[in-house]
Amino acid sequence: MSGNSIKKVTVIGAGTMGKHIALNCAIYGIETNLTDTFADALDKALAWSNEYLDGRVAKGKMTSEKADEIKKNFHTVSSLEDAVKDVDLVIEAIIENLEVKRELFAKLDLITPAHTIFASNSSTFVPSALAVATKRPEKVANIHYFNPAVHMQLVEVIKSPVSSPDTLETLMEFAKATGKTPILVQKEIDGFIVNNILAGITNTAWFLVENGYATPQDIDLGAEKGLGHAMGPFRTLDLAGLDTILSIRQAKYEKSGKEQDKPPALLVELVKNGHLGKKTGKGFYTYE
Ligand SMILES: NC(=O)c1ccc[n+]([C@@H]2O[C@H](COP(=O)([O-])OP(=O)(O)OC[C@H]3O[C@@H](n4cnc5c(N)ncnc54)[C@H](O)[C@@H]3O)[C@@H](O)[C@H]2O)c1
Repeated sequence: MSGNSIKKVTVIGAGTMGKHIALNCAIYGIETNLTDTFADALDKALAWSNEYLDGRVAKGKMTSEKADEIKKNFHTVSSLEDAVKDVDLVIEAIIENLEVKRELFAKLDLITPAHTIFASNSSTFVPSALAVATKRPEKVANIHYFNPAVHMQLVEVIKSPVSSPDTLETLMEFAKATGKTPILVQKEIDGFIVNNILAGITNTAWFLVENGYATPQDIDLGAEKGLGHAMGPFRTLDLAGLDTILSIRQAKYEKSGKEQDKPPALLVELVKNGHLGKKTGKGFYTYE
């Protein structure tokens, strides 16, 4: 199978990531089903997708014929069985819960054609943790998109120890055929590539702030004006949500017990005061 032979895709989970991934596939001419256990999520995803496309037309960035073509490729399907019965690729984008994901993969194994590849968009679970739930582990890998997936160019394709070369090649080619730049993570590692790079930068940035070398705002200026980064580390944290970042740090610290993973006092203080970043209007920066 090659990436160009992926003609039909089902995205499971119509939340933040799934609706974007499904729309991205539809934009590139792939017949796309989007399914979710909650009908409301599907209705919202369809409304969002139509609004997005109509907005592009209104701004003169897309013809109405092209928007209609994309709408015809994008199907919301409430029954999982109907959604996956004849697809080449399933992209899983459901909640981040290992047991729920494994249950889904085991079920998919029974109701999809033998050639169907299963790819998870999980940010934390490596593909072998999901492949064990199936009888086709060689056809399982991760395809990790970035938020917002319609716009962000990068995807990480993550190999499990038993993902077949054909599966990986198909996913890399599929990513390219749908407008993305894929990178291959050749061995399983928590955080994959990009989040490990980000963690390195962020840990250094925290060290500099906590030890009084510079303010978060000056560190961001250093990264933005000195390194050409589009966004400094603290602006990035504000965007992600400081409460989310704090829970990730707390979980990491509980697991490792390492001093370097301990949540920084300033982060704890900001969250305690309800300053969660862009979503609450205040974090390291103040937002309108
Ligand atoms: N949010 C991000 O920035 C981001 C970035 C990269 C990867 N991810 C990963 O993408 C996945 C989805 O994250 P999200 O932020 O879109 O979550 P979300 O909570 O916005 O959406 C999850 C959707 O999955 C649905 N769902 C839950 N269980 C289901 C099941 N058994 N079958 C079908 N649908 C089910 C929910 O109804 C919900 O609509 C997670 O694995 C996450 O780690 C998230």
